[in-house]
Amino acid sequence: MSERFFASDNSAPVHPEVMSALARANAGHAISYGEDRWTTEATALLQRLLGGEPEVHFVYNGTGANVLGMQSGLCGYHGIICTDVSHINTDECGAPERFTGAKLLALPSVDGRLEPDQVLGQLHAIGVEHHSQPRIVSLTQSTELGTVYQPEVVAEISRICRRNDLLLHMDGARIANAAVSLGCDLAGTTRELGVDILSFGGTKNGLMFGEAVVFFRPELAAGFRYIRKQGMHLASKMRFIAAQFTALFGDDLWWRLASKANAMAQRLGEELSRIPCAEVVYPVEANAVFARLPREVVDAVRREVFFYVWDEPSSVVRLMCSFDTEDEDIERLAALIRRSLE
Ligand SMILES: Cc1ncc(COP(=O)(O)O)c(C=O)c1O
Repeated sequence: MSERFFASDNSAPVHPEVMSALARANAGHAISYGEDRWTTEATALLQRLLGGEPEVHFVYNGTGANVLGMQSGLCGYHGIICTDVSHINTDECGAPERFTGAKLLALPSVDGRLEPDQVLGQLHAIGVEHHSQPRIVSLTQSTELGTVYQPEVVAEISRICRRNDLLLHMDGARIANAAVSLGCDLAGTTRELGVDILSFGGTKNGLMFGEAVVFFRPELAAGFRYIRKQGMHLASKMRFIAAQFTALFGDDLWWRLASKANAMAQRLGEELSRIPCAEVVYPVEANAVFARLPREVVDAVRREVFFYVWDEPSSVVRLMCSFDTEDEDIERLAALIRRSLE
């Protein structure tokens, strides 16, 4: 089994600069629960990157960021409009429904994306007591299928939200990959497009663990401290989440790491498109490549280099690149695929 594989961007190690920041923070005592200088610094750095003085709160993981962030804007009779492939719908074990009480209104995605018309199509339920009341639209950027929403689409969905008293949540577990793909800064990828609540990802971009919940409208954050504590995401040794983010934001590390992962996915997509039995099934716009491969190829190659089968019946696999994916990993994977066809 190869040391590096394509299972997930959270299979990658912690970036050395993040490790060094952790080691530096690991000296002496610090006041717990976020009253430390690392949390103050990381918060200020993220606020500067996003602009508009948003409220920033750190949590342990992405599911926590999504669930707790959205919980701040929801009650039990609400609905969350999302795609059928969204992480909140498929990979959070029902946590959004359990903890917010709201119903997920999961719509068929177009290459992982929700379209403005699909949101409009849900508005008939507003004011009808028999239906969960749509309250949040949740977009994942970049999407679970490795595609990216264009800024004008996010802005259009945001306008629909504003007109209909809905909130726009963005699952930004891979927001850095999306920003790089769009060539936009983080403000231009989120706040300037009208995002209200952002789950800001760190783990897939080189941290050991840690995400941030960002509120662009302060009134939405009013009860968040209590929601986070009740939701078991208030870290007592907060400095160790925050110190990682200070490394990520210093010297544009977040951009460099996401650029590398995206570039490797491009390279992998090109390599696969030169192999006759492989078909890349979604546009490669961030750090994921989805490809249809013959079943026997999948079985043979996975014995050497691990990755996940995304859809068993159609034999579509997901190949994730991370900041540490190298040319030689891609060459090796391509060689294994070719060899398994001989
Ligand atoms: C789109 C998306 N959102 C959120 C998450 C966060 O998940 P976790 O709770 O495992 O950190 C992931 C991780 O796979 C993801 O792919």
